[in-house]
Amino acid sequence: MTLTPATTLLSRASLLALIACLAACADSEGDGGEATSNGATGGTTAETTASNDVETTPNALQSPEYCGQCHTAHYDDWEGSMHAYATQDPVFQAMLVKGILETEGKLDQFCIQCHAPIAAKFELSPVYEDDDGAWRVDFDMNNPLIGRGVVCTSCHSMSEVEATVNAEFKLDPNIIHGPNGSAAAQEAHPTVKSESLTSSTMCGTCHNVVNPKGALLENTFSEWYASEFNSGDPNTDKSCQDCHMPAARGEIVEGTEADIHRHRFVGVDLALIDDFPDKEEQLQLVTDLLRSCVRLEVNRTEDHDDSYAIRVSMTNINNGHALPSGSTADRQVWVHITVTDDATGEVVYESGMMDENGDLMDRITGHSTNPEGDPDLLMYSSLLFGDNDQHVTFPWQAARSFEILLQPGQTGWREYLIPHDRIQGDQLTVQARVRYRTFPPFLIRELEEEGFLEPGLIGEIPIIDMAELTETFSVR
Ligand code: HEC
Ligand code: HEC
Ligand code: HEC
Ligand code: HEC
Ligand code: HEC
Repeated sequence: MTLTPATTLLSRASLLALIACLAACADSEGDGGEATSNGATGGTTAETTASNDVETTPNALQSPEYCGQCHTAHYDDWEGSMHAYATQDPVFQAMLVKGILETEGKLDQFCIQCHAPIAAKFELSPVYEDDDGAWRVDFDMNNPLIGRGVVCTSCHSMSEVEATVNAEFKLDPNIIHGPNGSAAAQEAHPTVKSESLTSSTMCGTCHNVVNPKGALLENTFSEWYASEFNSGDPNTDKSCQDCHMPAARGEIVEGTEADIHRHRFVGVDLALIDDFPDKEEQLQLVTDLLRSCVRLEVNRTEDHDDSYAIRVSMTNINNGHALPSGSTADRQVWVHITVTDDATGEVVYESGMMDENGDLMDRITGHSTNPEGDPDLLMYSSLLFGDNDQHVTFPWQAARSFEILLQPGQTGWREYLIPHDRIQGDQLTVQARVRYRTFPPFLIRELEEEGFLEPGLIGEIPIIDMAELTETFSVR
């Protein structure tokens, strides 16, 4: 397979050019008909393989389009998934560039090893200092092994999980690892039945992240490992695959009917680029998933001396890990509550509202225009701290993290106090909702202001209401 060298200059001045190049490369058809068209444009099977010598190319280096020629159903699911989006993600691209620059190349393959694992393992995306002393990364988005992120062979060529952290796994370049090792499969391509493919440890090799400074960034596998879904009871245990790759009837190859596993990998994230397949369907699936995993309760509790007390509690249910999980320093789950005095129709109390930039007032300088404006904010997320224990925003800057998460089955609550003298009538209406978003505006703003990201993304990030409840309470 020809790998087009798209050497990219990483100097501050050319950052915008770089980002433009990544986008433009993704739109072009590549050069000389050798490179594969990018997923953003749908992918073209015939062109990909026409120029490859299929006989001699190791399976691990095959593009998803190649596999998709025969495995249409799997390809159609996967191409709308976040695995296919892992390097197209403009926030990832912006962070990768910023991280390589800030660490003067020390980040090297750290991010790429999970977001484009085949590229990292086969050294297709070197990071180096050029003769002019500028940092460069070869990151050719036209190469499907880079531009299509976590491709089929990232999982199906995995021969051994060495550790459930930081992509420590071995590849078997020539053999497809499948759940069954069926005779029909062995006829089509060298195949073995793999025990690890169907185990959560396979997912865990990428879904636990510790950065080079030792800060815990993602802990999904370990959260699951300690959960009731991994108790050893086959009747109640659930693997990552059970929830994120549900079984269905469908085609392994066209014209057959078999038990298959959906490859949409529904989570919380949605593509923030225009040309990405199945966006509407994914939004619906993400919304349904998020609405299935929280139980919200609103109660009036015992009055304090001079105030009414309202308790809002939320429980993480039907979920194999923490809420939120994954890149928790980016994720925000919070309670928005308003209390209305029914006599006047006026809102007498509010928490979980946003400032004029859309940021939550989380008491951290730099996040909100009014950091102290919401002292009762109930939010689940993680905080990152740098070398001098200062707050930092980006994963490579962190020396440690502090997680404020709801573990599986755990309930979190807050009591909100409404001073008696604010209420004129004898009835209060409390509206509460649990809200989710994948990135806070302050993070996107920093990347935009420094020129790593083109402006305009903040409005694209949806806020999904996971649950809402309205209760009235008579007082006096
Ligand atoms: C020329 C057609 C063709 C191509 C190309 C192809 N496959 Fe297959 N594959 C098959 C057939 C046929 C089966 C067996 C179907 C059955 O069991 O009914 C199969 C089975 C599989 C299985 C299930 C194996 C098991 O455990 O039984 C996996 C996983 C798989 N293929 C992955 C891939 C991947 C990844 C690629 C790309 C590197 C790929 N295939 C490319 C035809 C193909
Ligand atoms: C019992 C079902 C269940 C199991 C088991 C499960 N998940 Fe999830 N997963 C969910 C639900 C529900 C959500 C959405 C709520 C959330 O983000 O925690 C989710 C969200 C996610 C997310 C997005 C997290 C975020 O907030 O950004 C990732 C990544 C993920 N799961 C990976 C995994 C992996 C890897 C495993 C196995 C180690 C796993 N899941 C096991 C149900 C499950
Ligand atoms: C993130 C890892 C991952 C990626 C990426 C992935 N698969 Fe799979 N695939 C799996 C796992 C795990 C199973 C087995 C699920 C089980 O048995 O519980 C599977 C099963 C299969 C099967 C066997 C039939 C079935 O559905 O059980 C085929 C065929 C297959 N995958 C093809 C593909 C193709 C083609 C792509 C790329 C377009 C792809 N896979 C991408 C993890 C992955
Ligand atoms: C080779 C590394 C790798 C492996 C193996 C892997 N993943 Fe992922 N996964 C990623 C990356 C990277 C992302 C983030 C992509 C993005 O959002 O840009 C991701 C995203 C996801 C998401 C979407 C999360 C969201 O926020 O919406 C789910 C769900 C998920 N993976 C489940 C799984 C499951 C289940 C397995 C095992 C069958 C698995 N993954 C194996 C690297 C991997
Ligand atoms: C060990 C594997 C691994 C490493 C290393 C890794 N990531 Fe990720 N990354 C993931 C997984 C898995 C997810 C999905 C988690 C989730 O959805 O919450 C993810 C999610 C993300 C997201 C959120 C995606 C979105 O669009 O919502 C960004 C941005 C990101 N990573 C950037 C980076 C950067 C920058 C680095 C390097 C400093 C890095 N990652 C290193 C595995 C990894």
